[in-house]
Amino acid sequence: MEPRALLRLWLLCCCGCGCCGDNDNTGPGAAFIPSGPRSRERQTAAFRESLKRHHYLNSLFPGENYTAVYGVNQFSYLLPEEFKAIYLRSKPSKYPRYPVEAPKPTSSVPLPVKFDWRDKHVVTQVRNQHMCGGCWAFSVVGAVESAYARKGQPLEELSVQQVIDCSYNNYGCNGGTPSSAFTWLNKTQVKLVKDSEYPFKVQNGLCRYFSDSHPGYSIKDYSAFDFSGQEDEMAKALLNFGPLVVVVDAMSWQDYLGGIIQHHCSSGEANHAVLITGFDKTGSTPYWIVRNSWGSSWGVDGYAHVKMGGNICGIADSVSAVFV
Ligand SMILES: *[C@@H]1O[C@H](CO)[C@@H](O)[C@H](O)[C@H]1NC(C)=O
Ligand SMILES: *[C@@H]1O[C@H](CO)[C@@H](O)[C@H](O)[C@H]1NC(C)=O
Repeated sequence: MEPRALLRLWLLCCCGCGCCGDNDNTGPGAAFIPSGPRSRERQTAAFRESLKRHHYLNSLFPGENYTAVYGVNQFSYLLPEEFKAIYLRSKPSKYPRYPVEAPKPTSSVPLPVKFDWRDKHVVTQVRNQHMCGGCWAFSVVGAVESAYARKGQPLEELSVQQVIDCSYNNYGCNGGTPSSAFTWLNKTQVKLVKDSEYPFKVQNGLCRYFSDSHPGYSIKDYSAFDFSGQEDEMAKALLNFGPLVVVVDAMSWQDYLGGIIQHHCSSGEANHAVLITGFDKTGSTPYWIVRNSWGSSWGVDGYAHVKMGGNICGIADSVSAVFV
């Protein structure tokens, strides 16, 4: 298939799920989510289509350094539109452009060529959202966990389920946006409890409340900016503010096995929230280190590498940081 035809296919499929424009991909209607067990024929057809897609994606840029590799993984039995309907349930928010004239706290310190918050032991393990469209909650909770660990608190898994159940301005496992979740956290000053106290159950539930004296972790503030065209500034923000929540176009991530994602995804189609923990500029292709919530068997131990510069996958379009 021609690259353009493939792109058109993706666009079609995206609009088919009703996620284009501002009218919510995140509403309760989840047209493509298979309700019962999927037929063997459908799975086989999806798998065959996946193999063709992998072959095509891998053939495009054979000479490129560190090019991304696509192949069979846990999502290969899903049709792209099914994958999107289940896993890609977030959307970007329009944020103000990052003000270049703002005082730059690190301007005196040169940017390191490689940095990863995981090396500082402030990032929790990769988690698995399973068939819950709660990527937005996983990314936001991940940022709060890291923010507390950076302040010297023990690194602790906090409750994603609490955010899924209680963030009333989102749709739980049917989707949501990091910005609404941060607004909710900041406004209500709700304290996130430990994950073990309010464990993830892969579905929406009633919000459980805890007494005021119950220990938990609230936020003081958050910031949200559009860093497109300013990814070096974004790297400084990562150093200063900790891991960053971003919303990306992750359509081609269905097939990702490793390497640096440099193509096949665009800005303006964002549908998936993730957490950037670092970057690596030591090689000929600098990249962001991006924590996903599809388990540690996906991608590079649960992470994706996305080329820095050029706003690949819209990675710099809606970027937020949290303060505790
Ligand atoms: C690939 O890597 C080599 C060696 O580092 C470098 O000289 C070359 O410019 C790179 N090519 C691209 C397309 O980045
Ligand atoms: C977060 O809440 C604080 C305190 O109410 C407020 O001053 C601040 O503007 C809020 N932040 C955002 C980004 O809305």
